[in-house]
Order: sequence, then structure tokens, then C-alpha cells
Amino acid sequence: MMLEISKILTGHRSIRKFKADDIPAQTVEAVCSEAFAGASSSGNLNTASIIATREPSRRRDLYQMHEQQKMILESPLILTFCADLFRTRKWLARRAARDNFNNLEGFFSGALDAMILAQNVCLGFEARGLGICYLGTTFASMAPLARFFDLPETCLPITTVAIGVPDENPSKRDRLPLKAIFHEEVYRVPSTPELDEIYADREIKAWERYISMPGNKARFEEGGIMNVAQWYTSKYKYPPEQYEAASLAFRHALVEQCFMARKNKV
Ligand SMILES: Cc1cc2nc3c(=O)[nH]c(=O)nc-3n(C[C@H](O)[C@H](O)[C@H](O)COP(=O)(O)O)c2cc1C
Repeated sequence: MMLEISKILTGHRSIRKFKADDIPAQTVEAVCSEAFAGASSSGNLNTASIIATREPSRRRDLYQMHEQQKMILESPLILTFCADLFRTRKWLARRAARDNFNNLEGFFSGALDAMILAQNVCLGFEARGLGICYLGTTFASMAPLARFFDLPETCLPITTVAIGVPDENPSKRDRLPLKAIFHEEVYRVPSTPELDEIYADREIKAWERYISMPGNKARFEEGGIMNVAQWYTSKYKYPPEQYEAASLAFRHALVEQCFMARKNKV
């Protein structure tokens, strides 16, 4: 049975616990083929690639590269979405066309293609009752992942999705109110009371959720964390030092994969 799009969207929850059941190859093919057909693509150059990881030993390697997120070991299917300008450039060379796309704009359009495709694939699996969870840890590990997958130049992983039969039924996560993200004609900076209102619900709900996680009460005390905002940039969640390091690694990966010159030239 297929769910209609608004039901899939309003029913969405990330799933982080999976049953061992395999996902039939025909399902994977149908989902990816529909997702690809329905994904807008810059210049219709189709500058994305999907790499499936199923083998348990390779999933264990991925588990290490993704900061030991357990769902990688449980999920029977890990899909890594890449910005891939390599195939296009190889074709250009074959037809004696000028080279291009080995630059930041090439990377950016490939990354957009890959992300649009990834979200379509997620919707396709969710429509079939399967669970998905994105793995943002792809970002910090781009270069090692590129080596792991034997990626050629101008090809880099953008995001990763773990897929499987859900073995949990988490409650739906809140979002900021729509008015916080939707602007008419020009950007409107919220006043301080409006900002407080936008985050009011989040401050309560996320606090309750995070404080009830095992070990977090002690962490909040130890780190002197008084609110959810402080939790977000504490050493336990998204520490700025880690973001700086990942940003440097990202730059290094862009250079290594020939999206960016070592110096000066973009
Ligand atoms: C780009 C991206 C990266 C994410 N990375 C992770 C991750 O590494 N680990 C994880 O458990 N969830 C990850 N998520 C899932 C988010 O935590 C989740 O979407 C968010 O908390 C909202 O919850 P919901 O998807 O259940 O509505 C990621 C989501 C996105 C879009």
C-alpha cells in the first residue's frame, strides 16, 4: 500500500532502530528509479550518484567513519549520496568538449542534485512503510569516505541515509512555527519577544527530551547547562571546535577531489 504525499510528510519521523529484515532489491530499484525520475536536476546533467552498502563488514567500517552511530550496524541498507561531476566531465572529454565543473559551482550544483535525490528516495521508502534516518556525520568524513568508496575526482559524498524496517515507534518531533521560517517579499528579522515566542515550545519540549536521555542530567550539571540553546553548542552536542575542524576537513576534501584549487583559483 502506498501512502499519499501529505500523509508521508505529516507522519515523518526519523527511525534509528531497525529490524534485521532485508529490503528486497526490487523495492530499492523501484524507489530509486521513481526518485530519480521525480528529481529536478541542474541543467538536467544528473550530477549525483548513489552508493549502496549492504555487506556487514563494510557497514562496520562505515560505522567507524560515522562516529559509531548504531543504526549503521542495524540497518540492512545504507545509501550514500554523492555530488558527482566526474561522469559528466568524462563524457565532455570523450566528445572533445571543454572541461568544466571542477570548481565550487560544479560542487554546489552536484550537492543540490544529490540532496534532492536523497529526499525523494527517503519519501519513496517512507511511502512503503520503511524507516529512514539521515547521517550528518558524512560531512566530517568526506575525504575518508571518498577513499572508502573509491570515488574518482570531482565526486564527493554529501549525505548518507540508513534505511530499514522500523523497530521503534518514536513520537513526532516538533518544528518551529511556520511563520518563523516563511517571509513575505523580504526577510523580516524577529523582535526579541517574537524570537522568544518562536522558540518557546522548543525550549520546553526539547529540554524535557534531552534531560530524560540516559546520563544527560549529570552532563547538564557538569557542564552548567541551563537551557536547550546552551546544550546545542555544549561539548556534548555540536561543539564549535568540532565544527571548525569539520569545516577544515571539508575544504581539504574539496581540494583533494579537485573541486577547488590548492590556492587562489576557485
Ligand atoms: C542533513 C541531516 C543530517 C542528520 N544527521 C543525523 C545524524 O547524524 N544522526 C541522527 O541520529 N539523526 C540525524 N538527522 C536526523 C535529525 O536529527 C532529525 O531529522 C531531526 O531531529 C527531526 O526529527 P524527525 O526527522 O524525526 O522529524 C539528520 C537530519 C538531516 C536532515
